[in-house]
Amino acid sequence: MKTIAVLTSGGDAPGMNAAIRAVVRTGLDKGFRVMGVQRGYSGLINGEIFPMDRHSVADIIQRGGTILRTARCAEFKTEEGRKRGANILKTFGIDGLVVIGGDGSFRGAQLLSKLGIATVGLPGTIDNDLPYSDYTIGFDTAINTVLDAINKLRDTSTSHERVSIVEVMGRNCGDIALYAGLAGGAESIIVPEKGYNQDELCRTILEGKLRGKMHNLIILAEGIGGADDLAKKVEGITGIQTRATILGHIQRGGSPTCMDRVLASRMGYRAVELLQEGKSSKVVGIKDGKIFDMDIDDALAVERHFDEKLYEIANALSY
Ligand code: ADP
Ligand code: F6P
Repeated sequence: MKTIAVLTSGGDAPGMNAAIRAVVRTGLDKGFRVMGVQRGYSGLINGEIFPMDRHSVADIIQRGGTILRTARCAEFKTEEGRKRGANILKTFGIDGLVVIGGDGSFRGAQLLSKLGIATVGLPGTIDNDLPYSDYTIGFDTAINTVLDAINKLRDTSTSHERVSIVEVMGRNCGDIALYAGLAGGAESIIVPEKGYNQDELCRTILEGKLRGKMHNLIILAEGIGGADDLAKKVEGITGIQTRATILGHIQRGGSPTCMDRVLASRMGYRAVELLQEGKSSKVVGIKDGKIFDMDIDDALAVERHFDEKLYEIANALSY
């Protein structure tokens, strides 16, 4: 293998740039020619491919987003689209591809490997919804962004003695809500994995008020409902002024944390090692602090286990 390429796909995540940098610099270090593919699989199909050198990834480790841009590409879900992508890669002399993205991007990478391109996936998503890995690149930055917002909302919520409902991202995964909610001392954390009872929630709010709580912070994962609706219901039932805040895409931006930069660097390095070893259809993950790899197929089949213990701790401490 002489030439490898890297692309970012799906929703962007802080730390993707650090991962690109790691892939490019490790690749060059190991004697590969390294190319960048712009706009994910969409750019791949359109041949948006250019050579990368050490300088092209200078000054990006601290930047959010992805210098390669990202996209969602329906055409790549078709056999024809993927064949086109594989042919373009072959035309450019590219034998190996590192795909930084979520489970959808991994499915694309796995199918691409069947067309003769060696592929390695790196988990890049703020959602932390790839259960084969303890953490995904971008999650740590996102929870710290949410935490910063919770701290600020706590100030105003306390001043006005209001209920504050904060809606966070994560698709069907409640990890952002769980981690940021626990760290932010939220009174309630509502996640799709556990569900909730509206009457119980309101009773907890009222009991908290009777015990002298000056505010009530509820962290709501987007996968279980909207903050605006819930705020109306809570105010209607409890009679306490309730405000909703939807954090939205703010959670996807910002300078990556130290943890995300280190994770991205370690994973990017391993991805290139795998290609050098002649491996394909692999993903890189982290388990108990150690970087490891496994087959994409197996990784996508891993069942998600919600961290019940962390949820129990968050509930016990919120009282
Ligand atoms: P993520 O990678 O963050 O999960 P998506 O699910 O949007 O984001 O997937 C990103 C891209 O990966 C899609 O736009 C598509 O190009 C490709 N992709 C997703 N699912 C498949 C699939 N089943 N087969 C081939 N390509 C896929
Ligand atoms: O997967 C990352 C994510 O930010 C999810 O948390 C969210 O549901 C979704 O992407 C938003 O997607 P879009 O950027 O297309 O609005």
